[in-house]
Amino acid sequence: MNDLVVRRIGRLLTMAGTGVGALEDAAVVVRGGAIEWVGSDRDLPTGLGSVAELDAGGACVTPGFVDPHTHLIWAGSRREDFVDRLCGMSYAEIAALGGGIHSTVRATRAASYDDLVAAALSRVESASRNGTTTLEIKTGYGLNPRDESRLLDVAGAVRGLRPEAIEVTYLGAHAVPRDSGRTPYINEVLAELPNARARNAQWCDVFCDVGAFSVDESRRILTAAREVGLGLRIHAEQIERTGAAELAAEMGCASADHLDHVDAAGAVAMATAGVVGVLLPACALTLGHGNWAAARTLQEAGVTIALGTDCNPGTSWCESMPYVIQLAVLAYRMPVEDALRAATINAAAALRRDDVGRVAVGQRGDLAVLAADHEADLVAHLGTTPVSATVTAGTAVVWP
Ligand code: NIG
Ligand code: FE
Repeated sequence: MNDLVVRRIGRLLTMAGTGVGALEDAAVVVRGGAIEWVGSDRDLPTGLGSVAELDAGGACVTPGFVDPHTHLIWAGSRREDFVDRLCGMSYAEIAALGGGIHSTVRATRAASYDDLVAAALSRVESASRNGTTTLEIKTGYGLNPRDESRLLDVAGAVRGLRPEAIEVTYLGAHAVPRDSGRTPYINEVLAELPNARARNAQWCDVFCDVGAFSVDESRRILTAAREVGLGLRIHAEQIERTGAAELAAEMGCASADHLDHVDAAGAVAMATAGVVGVLLPACALTLGHGNWAAARTLQEAGVTIALGTDCNPGTSWCESMPYVIQLAVLAYRMPVEDALRAATINAAAALRRDDVGRVAVGQRGDLAVLAADHEADLVAHLGTTPVSATVTAGTAVVWP
């Protein structure tokens, strides 16, 4: 099972070295779900037996995309927020009136477990359709012990049912729910951390920003999370500059995400501490308060930059890493090869995984066959289907 040979790859982006590590006219052999051989198509080993073969037809093939930031378990719609924002209301004003995250919390609490699993599965399928083979999934639309536990269970069920590599993050500290006070809710999140750890979560995230949790509150939650063995991540410097980037450095977070308002001091602190910066341009575009210079600030400080979808109903309804790559190149003016690394090897680093995000012997057999001969064409060709086949742990799906 999960044995596959991918032949006639016109251009294989391995991510070896500091660029995209391109090999021309390549082939890849996957055995038992892991990469066993990579090389020139004409040197393909003989005696592979009756292994399934995928003909890439001369296309460009990348490592399967790694999406290190999603909130993809939710019910309901946020179309009213979307239209209100187009009419000039801000994200914070909508949230203060009970919209925003709170409206998704109401819909998610009211949904059945089976409906939440089905909705999440269909979003992961859509991500797969766009070449994603590893994703992180956050909770954060339950905001009480019963409903956050349910979302952790949904994430665990999705992980069991899908072939993608899935990392689960407890984001109880997404917002203070409207049916609780601030201090009691923070105490509840602190008390829930061992349960989150026991129920599939590997990570704890906090939305550290104005209108969400302060730097001091976030520090308390992240410190307690570390004590129960959870890895740390943080929503930082999205709406305003708060010092969350420095907190990420102080706490040793694997990543700090959003960063639209990061400054040079925050970026230097992150670089020194080895915190990966995850940029979420689809969110910045949707909210209209993106700072397209943020990528430059991070890059100049020497921060490792990753890209993610931030897939969520309110600020980034997007499961597509190719679309995010296009935005990063066209809006941040990120070089194409940097954007490809940000969506693969650097996104794997944001999740502290060294088994995905590259094409090399021993890595998971995860590949995206592009509907393009070159990665620059992936970016230049707008509004089309970017991926023709996705290989996940050696299982190929050729998209219709
Ligand atoms: O990443 N920033 C906070 N959380 C999400 C938005 C969630 C929502 O609005 O539902 C984000 O953008
Ligand atoms: Fe987010």
